[in-house]
Amino acid sequence: MTLGANIMNDFGNTLSRKRAELIKKYELDVESLPTKEEIDNQTRINALDKLKQQKQEAWSTWNLYPAHQKIQFDFSKWKPDMQEDSENARELGKKAYLLSKRMKNETLNVLFVGAPGTGKTSLALAIAKELDKHILFISTAELAALFDTDLRNSPDIKQKLRNVENAMIGIDVLIIDDLGTEGSMRFKNFGVTEKMQHLMYRVANGRFNFEKNKVARTTLITTNNTDEELNNMYDPKIISRLIPKKQEQRIAFNNMKDVRGMG
Ligand SMILES: Nc1ncnc2c1ncn2[C@@H]1O[C@H](COP(=O)(O)OP(=O)(O)OP(=O)(O)O)[C@@H](O)[C@H]1O
Ligand SMILES: [Mg+2]
Repeated sequence: MTLGANIMNDFGNTLSRKRAELIKKYELDVESLPTKEEIDNQTRINALDKLKQQKQEAWSTWNLYPAHQKIQFDFSKWKPDMQEDSENARELGKKAYLLSKRMKNETLNVLFVGAPGTGKTSLALAIAKELDKHILFISTAELAALFDTDLRNSPDIKQKLRNVENAMIGIDVLIIDDLGTEGSMRFKNFGVTEKMQHLMYRVANGRFNFEKNKVARTTLITTNNTDEELNNMYDPKIISRLIPKKQEQRIAFNNMKDVRGMG
């Protein structure tokens, strides 16, 4: 036997001895110890989870929450009994949940339409969470506020707008919250309309696959406005790319009451 082989042999013996000592010392059940493959696999899963979390944190920089307050929701929090018409509220939750299951294999846009405080944003967040992908939340009112005439020429805001736009195009799941608010509320001198239109047009194009004639990445849109109102506010090209036409991808909060503040 060569010197190298001897050293390896000794090393192997020492390792086996140490292993036996540890098993005895800690009274380990050898059968239940993970194999090397299992440990490697778990290490790989942990590393991927960590990477995903870091990526989500990077995207999160560009979230625009209403009044800068992060909001979260998942299906376990949906309480149909908060509504007088609890049957309908249960159906709405079920429709959203079944869509989220479908969307694990299919890329779809979903529209949530109805009166204020009825749970549209909550169910949009619940679907996004269920998809387990990178998510960006954009409050249309907050986005419009970045076009404030006093602000929009500052280099910081210009850069922020570029970053938000890139994130809106590239993110797996985009929530556009309260589309239409910026058109119906009177934002003082923001002059948002044209600039917002252009931005939304670039975003809508960036998220659409023209070759396959279908959406490339999921967009969840909440609004208080009818299709007609949205079409009057926005160029129909934008609406055509973003708003789903199929009833199964439209969640209408009919007969639902405003339950904000009733938690
Ligand atoms: N069925 C429900 N179960 C539990 N919480 C609910 C339900 N419906 C609404 N809420 C809560 O009520 C509040 C308002 O809901 P949400 O923000 O989703 O309404 P919205 O339809 O998006 O309103 P708006 O049009 O004003 O943006 C939130 O705190 C939300 O979590
Ligand atoms: Mg909302």
